[in-house]
Amino acid sequence: MTHPRPDPQAKSLIDFWADAGALDPEEVEAHYAAFPAAPADAPAPSHSGTPESPAPTRGKRPEPRRLSNNPIAEARQLAASATSLEALKRTIEQFEGCPLKQAARNTVVYDGSTDAPVMIVGEAPGAEEDARGLPFVGRAGQLLDRMLATIGLSRETNVYITNCIYWRPPGNRDPSPAELQICAPFLARQIELKAPKLLLTAGKFATQAMLGVEDGIMRLRGRKLWFKQAGLPAAIPCIPMLHPAYLLRRGPDKARAWDDLLTIAALCDELGVKRGEGL
Ligand code: URA
Repeated sequence: MTHPRPDPQAKSLIDFWADAGALDPEEVEAHYAAFPAAPADAPAPSHSGTPESPAPTRGKRPEPRRLSNNPIAEARQLAASATSLEALKRTIEQFEGCPLKQAARNTVVYDGSTDAPVMIVGEAPGAEEDARGLPFVGRAGQLLDRMLATIGLSRETNVYITNCIYWRPPGNRDPSPAELQICAPFLARQIELKAPKLLLTAGKFATQAMLGVEDGIMRLRGRKLWFKQAGLPAAIPCIPMLHPAYLLRRGPDKARAWDDLLTIAALCDELGVKRGEGL
């Protein structure tokens, strides 16, 4: 009987001794049978394991992380291909071009009603937002909800909330200009798909990024300004607000924030935005 598949390395050794006249044919067959070849789909031999801890068997290799060398162009192209806010959210969640994603626990895109007439844009997720995957859910977010409630606005009914940046900057540092640029096409597309009647920017950072201005928030807050973007049928009224995180630290400025809420409520009425119970 001929052994069908001896191990190739064992075979060459056995053949060497047979050629040298040291083994007769029966011994050759017996040696072949003693060193069968590994099944075709067995893991390849590895030298990295030890007898105590065998090397892990090779599974399917994970897809290598694809880092784009032009993340802004990629973000633009991906944003343009999303035809709904839900699809855009999934696209942002899958996007690998922003380095902030590497340290973040979650991608934070938006909260609230997708057909809400009022859209609020903040800066970037903080620790609580990163943990829960939703914008403005920490202490600042809770204050924002209370402020909005006083004028009959809420994310349950008439407000949609997002940020300029979708991943938490480590240690809550300011996002860099590059991170802002990478995320900008996604914010622009959200505004395009949402087409809100009224935009509110929370804090200096979002206000400057959205309106392309350099004035401080104390100068801009509570003013009716205009947000313009190519592709929008018309400019959208935009009121900058003091950031609720700032108000948590600077209680006395709540009086200013109250004045701004009254301005926002009046503009909602002018624009035909339905407000709930409140003022
Ligand atoms: N601050 C922001 O600007 N956005 C959030 O989502 C939370 C805090």
